[in-house]
Amino acid sequence: MSPRSAAVSTFTPPAPPAALPQTATREERLAVLNVLNDKVRGCSRCAELAGARTNTVFGSGDPAAKILFLGEAPGADEDEQGEPFVGKSGQLLTTIIEACLLKRSDLYICNILKCRPPGNRTPLESECLHCREYLDGQLAAIDPDYIVCWGTTAAQNLLQTKQPIGKLRRQFFRHGRAKVICTYHPSYLMRNPPAKKDVWEDMKFWRAEMGVDLSGVKKAN
Ligand code: URA
Repeated sequence: MSPRSAAVSTFTPPAPPAALPQTATREERLAVLNVLNDKVRGCSRCAELAGARTNTVFGSGDPAAKILFLGEAPGADEDEQGEPFVGKSGQLLTTIIEACLLKRSDLYICNILKCRPPGNRTPLESECLHCREYLDGQLAAIDPDYIVCWGTTAAQNLLQTKQPIGKLRRQFFRHGRAKVICTYHPSYLMRNPPAKKDVWEDMKFWRAEMGVDLSGVKKAN
């Protein structure tokens, strides 16, 4: 799904902050994230989303992670629990993570939007802009080596491109220090299981770059 552009916004996000020094400790990174999370909890930039949410969904995982997973927006389960990727698509994401010989606790996981769009509709461009400051702050605090964009909204927003997700796969982009790879969203895989083999190719391609050979691992289902 690509961000809808119907609502034109005049909102300009502040310039992204500089990344924390690479010597910053986990505790220092967490302290920056906690301040940002408090700001997100009180955010009302998107009146519709702020009015409908149960919880904001900031992010979870290791504040000093070398890998950051970026999704689209919370769904109903995430809104209920205040954690990213805890519903059905989150279960599939966990399967993929484990097939990549990783644990969820090795990563930091967050979304483009920190609030659930009603009915899980595609985020509006204005909503993505409103939330950009929070994502930029997370990226600066964590300063990962790798960012994996799950789906069109994550990829197009992070990379500021209109290219379709199919064209963004199987190559590395740069975002600051991080190498960025893009693949299909787990929700898309649930609707379209044959695409799982494409994601598995993307995972093998990405992990090989990290020096991890997944060729002997059974494909994630
Ligand atoms: N889909 C997303 O993109 N993010 C979540 O946190 C859950 C579902």
